[in-house]
Amino acid sequence: MKVDLSGQVAIITGGSRGIGNGIAVALAENGAACIITGRNTERLKKAEKALQAIQPACKGVALNVEARGEVDALAKEIYETFGRIDILVNNAGITDDQLLLRMKEDQWDRVMETNLKGTFNCTRASIKYMLKKRSGRVINISSVIGLMGNPGQANYAASKAGIIGFTKAVAREFARKQITVNAIAPGYIVTDMTEKMEEKARKGIISLIPLARLGSIEDVANAALFLSSEAASYITGHVLNVSGGLYI
Ligand SMILES: NC(=O)c1ccc[n+]([C@@H]2O[C@H](COP(=O)([O-])OP(=O)(O)OC[C@H]3O[C@@H](n4cnc5c(N)ncnc54)[C@H](O)[C@@H]3O)[C@@H](O)[C@H]2O)c1
Repeated sequence: MKVDLSGQVAIITGGSRGIGNGIAVALAENGAACIITGRNTERLKKAEKALQAIQPACKGVALNVEARGEVDALAKEIYETFGRIDILVNNAGITDDQLLLRMKEDQWDRVMETNLKGTFNCTRASIKYMLKKRSGRVINISSVIGLMGNPGQANYAASKAGIIGFTKAVAREFARKQITVNAIAPGYIVTDMTEKMEEKARKGIISLIPLARLGSIEDVANAALFLSSEAASYITGHVLNVSGGLYI
């Protein structure tokens, strides 16, 4: 499959590290100007430099996806600078695990605000510029936890399941405008988020994965690259499970 994203502009939230950064690298390697957002400016600058070595038009911008005003202003600025927004990857996400009876309201709110409301904020802000061209790709990073649940992750599972419902509704709403909206549901991927896991827990998880390994950032980035490409133009409202068979 040949992918050519040259001339296209992609926004990747939480793109300074982990899965988001892997997606930005994959899109930039295939020609897209990637605007990565994050909260840590030092890390953002480093990631920006590395991306610019691949595709000079790439940029790193500080953004809190929960802040609607900030998100709207950034999408406007990107559109005014580049004249287009082709791809949005809603990747920014957090966990704050706790068993339900001990979960504080604040833990619930924070995870929902970043993961679900952040996805809503960024999609609404960007899709109006995709409409102008009557084409676009929205890719929402959900999780297998949103499909299968997990003890101690009621907040995270609800936010990720919410992203799937959101994906399907928005896919139906914008299909006539040739804007596709899909979700990726990664399983356990080796990143900072899963790095904190103890060795015993890691082995336990691998024993549940039919393909018998944790996923790599590239596994998810390849799925995002495909969904961004022309080859995926007839796919919308889909949840692409990238979990080595953990969820079947
Ligand atoms: N790592 C996994 O195994 C795994 C599995 C399934 C799904 N996911 C999902 O993939 C996505 C990326 O995960 P990761 O493992 O790379 O995580 P990570 O913690 O390495 O990166 C998350 C990114 O999101 C950004 N972010 C967090 N809150 C933000 C906010 N309010 N505003 C802007 N940016 C914010 C962070 O700055 C960071 O760049 C997340 O949505 C996560 O839920 C990860």
